Order: sequence, then C-alpha cells, then structure tokens
Amino acid sequence: MTTMLTDFWYPVAHSADVVAAGEALPRRLLGHDLAVFRPARGAAARVLGAFCPHRGAHLGHGRVVDGCVECPYHGWRFDGAGRCTAVPGEARPARAQAPAFPTRESQGLVWTCVGDVARAPAPPLLPALDDRSLRAFDVEMVVESGFDWWVENIIDVSHVRFVHGQSYGEASYAGKFSVERSADGLGFRARARLAQDMNLVARLLHGWAPARSTMEVTLEHHMPGITVFDSDQGGGRRQVLAFLCTPEDATHTRMFAYVLRNYLKWVPGGDAIGRLFAARIFREDLALARTVLAPSYLDAPQPLVSVAADEPTLEFQRLLRLWRERQGQNQSQTEGRSHGLARAER
Ligand code: FES
Ligand SMILES: [Fe+2]
Repeated sequence: MTTMLTDFWYPVAHSADVVAAGEALPRRLLGHDLAVFRPARGAAARVLGAFCPHRGAHLGHGRVVDGCVECPYHGWRFDGAGRCTAVPGEARPARAQAPAFPTRESQGLVWTCVGDVARAPAPPLLPALDDRSLRAFDVEMVVESGFDWWVENIIDVSHVRFVHGQSYGEASYAGKFSVERSADGLGFRARARLAQDMNLVARLLHGWAPARSTMEVTLEHHMPGITVFDSDQGGGRRQVLAFLCTPEDATHTRMFAYVLRNYLKWVPGGDAIGRLFAARIFREDLALARTVLAPSYLDAPQPLVSVAADEPTLEFQRLLRLWRERQGQNQSQTEGRSHGLARAER
C-alpha cells in the first residue's frame, strides 16, 4: 500500500503549533505513534515515541509541564530525551524511558526521522516559502490515502482537467512535462507549457486570469514526498504550490500544502476563500482515492499502461523503487553485521 521509506526526515507539525505552555501534539509517522512537544519557549521541539511505559497511554495527549511531557493517565513526566523525571508520589523506576527521535525545525515545520538518521539526507529548503514577495496560506490535513498514491496524485497533472474540471474549468491544464533526473536520485525537475482554461471562480482566484491562456510550469520533486509547482501564469502573475507529504501509516498521509502567489495579496478574505477552494480540490481527489483499485502503483494488482503525460509519475515510481531497494540492501547489511557480531560473541 505504501512504500515505508524510513531513512528520511519528514515534517510532522507546524512549529507554531508546538507551544511550550500547553498540550503536546499526537502524531504518527510510518506506523510510529509520536508525541511532539516544546520543553520551553524558544527551545527546540522534541519528538518522543508516544507509548507511555507505565500503562501505554498516549503521551501525545499529555500536557507540557516544567519542560516535560506529562502523561494524561497517571502523570508520569518525560523530558525531551525521553527520560522519566517524575512519578507522582513514588520513586522513579530506573527503566522508565520513552524513545526519543531526532528533531529539527526548518521553514516553520518540525521534522523527525524514525529510521537510520545517519543515512537520511537533509530535508530540502524550499526558497518560495521564505520569499517575501509571495503571500501564502497553508492547509494541513490528514487524508485517508496511502502515501504513494497521494504523492503521485499531486505529481499527476493530467488528472486535473478531469477530476477537478468542475472546479477549475473543463479543459484546464493540458500539456506534457519533460523530466530532468537528478544524479543523486533524490528528486527530479519537470517543465511544461500548459494550456489553461479556467471557469469564472478559478479566474477570480488566480487574479482575474484570462479564460484561456498558457502557463510555464516547473515541477520539482524531492524524495520522498515534497512537490513544488512554480508557475508563470502570464501578466506577471506567479503562483507556487508546495506540498509536503508525510506517511502516517499504510492508509493515511498528513499533508502540509502551501499556496503562494504574488497577486491577490491584499484582498480581504482572499486567503480564506483560497483555503475553501483548496479544500474542495482535495475533497475531489479524496473521493477518487477511496475508489481506486491500485492504491500503490508499485504493487498494482495488474500491469498498468502509461502515456507521455505520465512521465513525471513514472519518474516518481522509479525513485520510490530505487530507495526501497537501497533501504532493503542497507537493512540486510545491518542484519548481516549483527549476525556476524552475535557469532563472534558466542
Ligand atoms: S500510563 Fe502513563 S503514567 Fe500511567
Ligand atoms: Fe487532484
């Protein structure tokens, strides 16, 4: 269902949502339940395994008290390294410890890695997110869709005219991308000149775009789940769509989506209307996701046939396969080493 690529950093929360005086945040990454919290104002966010070693309550539903996350069940406290620091009315059991995962904060997001962090490439910096000439709104949501399918759906532009035809316009976004691979296998870039045919609502939301136009689009994908569309929509209008996807488990994906533009920057309510429009688009994708018969293309139950418009998605599949194989090789090397060690110790 989902390619569980563990040796990567993934965003799990907006930094602004991880506040020192307040609640921890429950999150999931690759099947691991996590508690995200900030020990003190200005301190780095921390990520612990959420399973409380006392009775298995979820630490992500606890409060932050004195720099620790406090379990919501019996109040045991755990610091940012996962050490139990207090048990109400009793001595601390020496073995009480929650796993702590590495954490970094970048571009307003908290990132963590539940695999081999020494192998994990640094998360990419997305210049558009720091570009002061662009106005942004964001949408964070958990979708009931496997990661592979959801990311591929984002990369797949040829579905827009069909699935989102009612929202955008019947013949929106027709065109083909030419793909440039990156040598390190960490992503690809694709460019296209797309014909764009928008209905009235879409035209208004794109700064009164013409009903019919062409736009230059650059798609950049960073493995595993970050896709950025940078489009020159003509007339000096630039729009950037950035999607950062995190595999929660085999059937759920958390998505941080940003819509940035240099038009409609000061229209009252513009962001709110844009958010509603984006939510409608995602609902259209989700309705489709619930019915697909190949929720992961790498393990599709029958052979799939592709055409030229599928080039970017085929490249994404190639990279998923590549990193899945690399991860498998790394794991068998590690297992081989630990077997060798066990033999040597006997
Ligand atoms: S389950 Fe966490 S303190 Fe008891
Ligand atoms: Fe879509």
